[in-house]
Amino acid sequence: MRLPHADGGRPNPAGEAPTSDRVSSRAGMEVSPPTQWPNRQRILLVDDEPDGLHGLRQVLEAADYAVSVATSLRQAVALMRQQQFQLVLTDLYLGTTDLGSQIAEVARERRPCTPVIVFTGRPTFDGAQEALRKHVADIVVKPFDPNNLLATCRRVITETELARRNQELASANQVLTSVLPRTIEMKDPTTSGHAARVVGYTDALACRCGVGAEDRASLRLAALLHDIGKIGVPDHILTKPGPLTADEMEVVKRHPAMGYEVLSDLADHADMRNWVYQHHERWDGKGYPNGLRGEEVQLPGRILVLAEVYDALAEPRSYKPAWPIPKIVALFRDQAGRQFDPTLANMVADGLDRMGYRFFAANPGMLF
Ligand SMILES: [Fe+2]
Repeated sequence: MRLPHADGGRPNPAGEAPTSDRVSSRAGMEVSPPTQWPNRQRILLVDDEPDGLHGLRQVLEAADYAVSVATSLRQAVALMRQQQFQLVLTDLYLGTTDLGSQIAEVARERRPCTPVIVFTGRPTFDGAQEALRKHVADIVVKPFDPNNLLATCRRVITETELARRNQELASANQVLTSVLPRTIEMKDPTTSGHAARVVGYTDALACRCGVGAEDRASLRLAALLHDIGKIGVPDHILTKPGPLTADEMEVVKRHPAMGYEVLSDLADHADMRNWVYQHHERWDGKGYPNGLRGEEVQLPGRILVLAEVYDALAEPRSYKPAWPIPKIVALFRDQAGRQFDPTLANMVADGLDRMGYRFFAANPGMLF
């Protein structure tokens, strides 16, 4: 078999340490540098037995992997420090002293980390235990069935890629759910902790109203980010100690629209954006920015309106103490059908009457 990109053993232009990429295999073929395989998944194959190395390389190359080879632990480590592989496939025993599973320790330091599959013709309990301790992805026993081996390689590469993407998503999610709310609160210190509490209140209410899991997830995000548009409101207005002028109030009233705009790239979160946009609308149509009325705002959006006001009432602010429960109950009864969805407002008033603050106790497992 002839490799498609054999480089004829040309010198390493970077003058880097010798690698097995330039070590002839038993068949006399040279393995070209992975830079010539930009679109193929790269596997580092490590075996101190030339026959095993040759046979495995043929199997992997026939499956369109770009294969680099090493015949010792030292060579393998040197290669890994130079290049990124999607997978290392190594014999468990390399020479008389080295274990292929030691490669897994180096592979774990790589970013992104490289999964390692260990193979052996002499499976032992101690060997398997040591391999697991080194966090190898799988152990394969020789002789191989080529199809099974390739299936294992594909699975391990896919699982590693999925784990990496999940990690990226978790990091992005952390920015969304932690950094952004803190940024909003730095902009408007009077509302410290407001967004996180509103997340709990909206979720508790949504749960009581039978809102589905998907909408609840969107609603939690909307609750967390509902005031993100305040980033666009000048500091001197947000932190003004006294009452706002009519002009200043008009600027503040732009924050739902600015939040909607800030979130405009989140194409998969249309509902969440709408609820952010609508969190100052009222049941009677006298809210802003669009004077929507009644069920023109979806139930989750109406829940957010109510939960947001509840927090403003139940927490002390610089301009007022925390309201006692009876005063909050009276307001919700009075505003049922005016500011708030009447069914929702009466449900909350009844619940607060009966259970006090416990009515809004969040289910911690349901938060982000
Ligand atoms: Fe707001």
